[in-house]
Amino acid sequence: MSILEQSTNTLLFKPTAFKDIYDDLHELSDFYAAHSGIAIGDITDNDIMLPSGKAISPIKAAFCLVEIQRTAVFIRGINKAIAQLQASFPGERIHILYAGCGPYATLLTPFTTRYTSNELAFHLLDINQISLTAAQKLYKGLELEDYVAEWICADATTYQLPEDQTIHMVISETMLNALRKEPQVDIMLNLIPQMHEKALFIPQNITVTAQLLDNRKEMDRGIEPYLTPERINLGTLYAIGREIYEPPQRIVIEIPQEIQNHKNLSLLTDITVFDNERLSTYDSSLNMPVRIQEVSGHEGRKLIFNYERGEKPGFKFEWA
Ligand SMILES: C[S@@+](CC[C@H](N)C(=O)[O-])C[C@H]1O[C@@H](n2cnc3c(N)ncnc32)[C@H](O)[C@@H]1O
Repeated sequence: MSILEQSTNTLLFKPTAFKDIYDDLHELSDFYAAHSGIAIGDITDNDIMLPSGKAISPIKAAFCLVEIQRTAVFIRGINKAIAQLQASFPGERIHILYAGCGPYATLLTPFTTRYTSNELAFHLLDINQISLTAAQKLYKGLELEDYVAEWICADATTYQLPEDQTIHMVISETMLNALRKEPQVDIMLNLIPQMHEKALFIPQNITVTAQLLDNRKEMDRGIEPYLTPERINLGTLYAIGREIYEPPQRIVIEIPQEIQNHKNLSLLTDITVFDNERLSTYDSSLNMPVRIQEVSGHEGRKLIFNYERGEKPGFKFEWA
């Protein structure tokens, strides 16, 4: 069995075999590197700065493969999404646009071991021609070119879906925690409104909340990793997904009078990849809390949050 097939089976059918998943994804990374010419290692290449944020370099994009829990949960979510689409569009070849495919098309290539090219068609898009060329080399080397309907070098924040072909699913993982720096929001705001009503977007939903953390309780997770520390949720700052995709609005939150040791105001990111496949606080780098500031002494005061789009997207705040 090839490492591509083995790792796909491990990801899908042994979700708690963390050591096997870790080992398989590292072996897969060597395999992809040998075929694509892009290896995980020193970052010697460049990001592309777009009007909507940073498109990370090919080597950094390759690294995403070994962001273990992220990759595992996305692959399991996409697997369920493909099954749903096959039920919604019986007998049709499922066309998937991957906006920001990077050098390995990491979140789609595993499915070549489970479906034929008559069942799946990939539209592989990246703004970085070096990443796209690496993915082309990989697909040629692995004789997977029949899966590819088109290679597209374009900016996903302005790209228009083809008029002569239904796209059944769009995948884009172009984000950091709290939707900082990278263009995920602009990509979703451009692509989701263009999609067929039964088409799916992956991730299905991203939500950023403002919460008060007790640093001591957060650290206790080191001893009790499965315990969710008690936090004070001050509200959702922004949520975007397949169903609701409005541009961000200004949000006012209030620090309560009683906060006890919950002094650390942070932004938490929850991602529903698809259905019950979710990434929550601490599950991956995309879910690490983003600290805003200590709020003791500010009890009862209001804060105004604005998500600013543009070259450096992210939440900005000021006290009311
Ligand atoms: C975080 S990496 C993800 C790589 C891979 N898809 C994965 O999940 O492992 C993001 C990729 O999206 C591409 N990208 C970022 N912004 C883009 C944009 N506006 N249009 C097209 N591609 C973009 C980057 O060049 C990079 O290859």
